[in-house]
Amino acid sequence: MIPFGFTFKKAHLHQLSVQASILLCCNDSEEDMFGDYDSFCGNDSLLAQVDDIEHKYLQDKNMDVKAAREITVGNLQSGIHQKKQDNFSASEKASVLKADKEGACQVQDRDLVDGSREPAESLLDDLPSSQLLYFEKMDELSSAFRTSPDSKERRECVNSSSNKIRSPLSYCADAEHRNRPMDFSSDSKCVLLKTESLKDHLKSAMTGNAKAQTLQVSKTKQLKEAVLSEEIFVARKAIESSSVDIGPFYGLPSKVKDLFRQLRGIETLYEWQHDCLMLESLQQRKNLIYSLPTSGGKTLVAEIMILQELLCRQKDVLMILPYVAIVQEKIRGLSSFGIELGFLVEEYAGSKGRFPPIKRRVKKSLYIATIEKGHALVNSLIETDRISDLGLVVVDELHMLGEGSRGAILEITLAKILYTSKNTQIIGMSATLNNVGDLQKFLRAEYYTNNFRPVELKEYVKIQDTIYAVDSKTENGFTFSRLLNFKYSSCLEKADPDHIIALVTEVIPNYSCLIFCPTKKNCENVASMVCKYLKKEFRAHREKEKQDLVENLKNIGNGSVCPVLKQTIPFGIAYHHSGLTNDERKSIEEAYSSGVLCLLACTATLAAGVNLPARRVILRAPYVANDFLKKNQYKQMIGRAGRAGIDDAGESILIVQEKDKHLVRDLVNSPLENCYSNLLLELTKGMQSLLLSLVGLKIAVTCEEVNNFMCGTLLGVQQQLLSKEKSLSEVIKDGLENLIEKGLLKGRISEKDHNSECTLTITPLGKATYKGSIDLAYCNLLYRDLKKGLEGLILESNLHLLYLATPYDVTSSCSPDWMIYLRQFNQLSAAEQKVADIVGVPESFITKKASGQAIRKNVDSAVVNRLYLTFVLYTLVKETNIWNVSEKFNMSRGYVQNLLNSAASFASCLLHFCEELEEFWVYKALLTELTKQLTYCVKTELIPLMEVAGVLEARAKQLYNAGYKTLAHLANANPETLIKMIEHLSRRQAKQIVSSAKMLLSEKAEALQEEVEELLKVPTDIPGTH
Ligand SMILES: Nc1ncnc2c1ncn2[C@@H]1O[C@H](COP(=O)(O)OP(=O)(O)OP(=O)(O)O)[C@@H](O)[C@H]1O
Ligand SMILES: [Mg+2]
Repeated sequence: MIPFGFTFKKAHLHQLSVQASILLCCNDSEEDMFGDYDSFCGNDSLLAQVDDIEHKYLQDKNMDVKAAREITVGNLQSGIHQKKQDNFSASEKASVLKADKEGACQVQDRDLVDGSREPAESLLDDLPSSQLLYFEKMDELSSAFRTSPDSKERRECVNSSSNKIRSPLSYCADAEHRNRPMDFSSDSKCVLLKTESLKDHLKSAMTGNAKAQTLQVSKTKQLKEAVLSEEIFVARKAIESSSVDIGPFYGLPSKVKDLFRQLRGIETLYEWQHDCLMLESLQQRKNLIYSLPTSGGKTLVAEIMILQELLCRQKDVLMILPYVAIVQEKIRGLSSFGIELGFLVEEYAGSKGRFPPIKRRVKKSLYIATIEKGHALVNSLIETDRISDLGLVVVDELHMLGEGSRGAILEITLAKILYTSKNTQIIGMSATLNNVGDLQKFLRAEYYTNNFRPVELKEYVKIQDTIYAVDSKTENGFTFSRLLNFKYSSCLEKADPDHIIALVTEVIPNYSCLIFCPTKKNCENVASMVCKYLKKEFRAHREKEKQDLVENLKNIGNGSVCPVLKQTIPFGIAYHHSGLTNDERKSIEEAYSSGVLCLLACTATLAAGVNLPARRVILRAPYVANDFLKKNQYKQMIGRAGRAGIDDAGESILIVQEKDKHLVRDLVNSPLENCYSNLLLELTKGMQSLLLSLVGLKIAVTCEEVNNFMCGTLLGVQQQLLSKEKSLSEVIKDGLENLIEKGLLKGRISEKDHNSECTLTITPLGKATYKGSIDLAYCNLLYRDLKKGLEGLILESNLHLLYLATPYDVTSSCSPDWMIYLRQFNQLSAAEQKVADIVGVPESFITKKASGQAIRKNVDSAVVNRLYLTFVLYTLVKETNIWNVSEKFNMSRGYVQNLLNSAASFASCLLHFCEELEEFWVYKALLTELTKQLTYCVKTELIPLMEVAGVLEARAKQLYNAGYKTLAHLANANPETLIKMIEHLSRRQAKQIVSSAKMLLSEKAEALQEEVEELLKVPTDIPGTH
């Protein structure tokens, strides 16, 4: 950091860097992330022992240290220069202290020696010009700042930070530290050096890896970090003191701009992005909904706001995204920002996430969550009175509010935040919103919209062999564009009556194309059909890379490749739907992004979230499964057309049969669908679950309070539309009564007015239900199942436990193959077979079913189906090979993997459920282990690698085999070496893996540090002390 009042010249810089490095390479009071804890220097015996060891250690240390201390003391006495050094030392990260086997510590600091030799010029040469400019600006500004009241506070911050042991980026943040007066005399510094505690060394060693940015940290890097800290401080001040953006980059350090350039290739903001960020309402921290067409660049605006919140306002941020895969993608994408800018990125998806999150003292956290986990996180923050720590909540794809149970959960989450935290800003974005007024009322938000699209989208429909342009200005909505130019043999006409081949060959292989198909099977058929009739020349295009892809898929499938893909990939074609495993999907997406594949036949799922644009998007039919396309779905799909920076225009072609002509005309000309509250439709996951948690979290405990709360929901806004037969208060009353009947709430509700004051309380079962995010439709059943388990849980294998962790809601979609059922049953041990009997599936039932006999006995089909799925999970956990299991059970690999993921998620919910009920204490340990087994259903040695967001099984295997066996190996890996050692790994992916690993390691290390601090904290109320 460059202090104000200091004329910045290259020579000074050089001098400073030399001094700073001398100070550092000799100084064992290396900075760390903890802050100093005087309380540790108390007088109990442990501390005395530690002091003894330290004393001895210090005596044994070589003379260099002494000499260094003298230099340090000398420097400390030299006024303003000293401050400069300290500022550098505060940002120094190169010293990695390691505890060796004997417990002694040594400073490892190769770079610093080299660093001091670095010529001053190179320091500046390495800085981006924006930062050089910034230096000059700072220099000019310095005298003005010196006299301002702010500068005093800032100098205190500088002083305090230099004496602290903490992260360089966060030193301005901590008000407590900032305000503490610091003794800057040389004596006090000496004392600090002497009593540098073993604890600190241990902590440092523990976090050495986490903090390591690269093995070689140059002076330039230290300097850049110093500049960054400075900029963050100024930016924060700017935001606090004024609504005008005076920071280098929207109130943020210019490093942020550099990162967007380096990591995302974004040179400048689109005009609308700039306008949106400068909105008066945002400066006033009002909530905001913004809506732009697909690919309009909405994410960037949200990300800049997130960074402002984390860095300038020093608050935590929650980002809610619709799917697990998208959460992981975001974690990968933002980890590098976190590492460079000094905040944590924490994953809340599937079975991952801690409730409540660890309270960090120094760094701020960006929680990236799915809708469900976001809700659980908010609940836990409300419960622990920490909801106001959340400065900002960002919701991507806000129209999800109108989509089933997930919409209901999103609405509940946002309503709770609005009600309990006045300071939390909410930002929602979407490409497909219609009734914005309702959403604005609900979120008390301003609205920004713009029609901007970086690449023009031309919309067409094809009827027979004619292509029409969609034109809302004409009477029937279409205008003639052209006749499709093709020559089909009669055989081809039969095979491809919709002329898909003619349409795709107009663009592939040089440009990319997506074909959205109504069903999964249809995707595979279209992919096969197209390549069957393509000329051989198509095989030549990027042949080697396509071979590599097939090889890669073979590795993923432990030797097997899907026969359809094996046939289509040589032509640059693949299908893409949920029947593929995540690993396979990811490989195919990457190959498509890099142009190795030029055509994907996919289902609508690809349109939601994944950023895979195409020159041409073809919609095979206006249907998703058997349902006619909705406008929202249509918009999402055609929105993939046109790749920014590559295509001049994108085009979409919807293939229409004569019979659907009129429906399609309505579709393309109709407005987007409205977004309605799902609280009533999704009763057990919506209204009832909300009422339960309102009481459980003590947000609202009387009828009146509950009514008040409900007025603030989207349902409250739309009550007249959605609840015609009953008033909202009647619906609430019914809901509460139902919860009392179910034994989840206690209290009385009656017609009488005075009783509306009666306080409701939650029962233990109620609490367990909302804490475990259990669907209220199953909570009583779950309780009974677990209770029955207590009477005779069979633990010979994990079969019985797996049965309990098999989600209830997937059973309806399963229809067992009875022969397979019987075969699997017969392979079980006698004790395991007993499990079937205990849960209510007698052997005779399975045998009879398999032999096609009639069954008189009444057996619960939900239980039978559930046990079948348990068999799938059981085989999977045992064999850890999705391919084998999907073959054994004749299910698609994607289905098996989804089942596994939902079971992992449900197991973690069960664990939270059991934690609330004392009688189920015994399950806790069992479920903790089971959740782990299900989350990482792979060979144990791969688990540490797969914890890194986006490292799936195949990649983990490659990494492990290449010698990257632990998280620390990955965190300290050199991306360039990784690329060389790991096949099919791009530079971008390698960097993302290393960044994510660093982030995870740092997050884990910090969590441990928090624990250490908590343990060592001296209570203020020790009897007999004052
Ligand atoms: N200012 C910019 N300059 C260049 N590229 C940009 C800019 N802003 C965003 N992009 C790029 O445009 C692409 C689309 O952006 P983004 O994913 O944010 O779109 P979106 O509005 O969220 O669309 P959707 O509704 O489909 O999710 C991304 O690859 C992003 O990196
Ligand atoms: Mg988006």
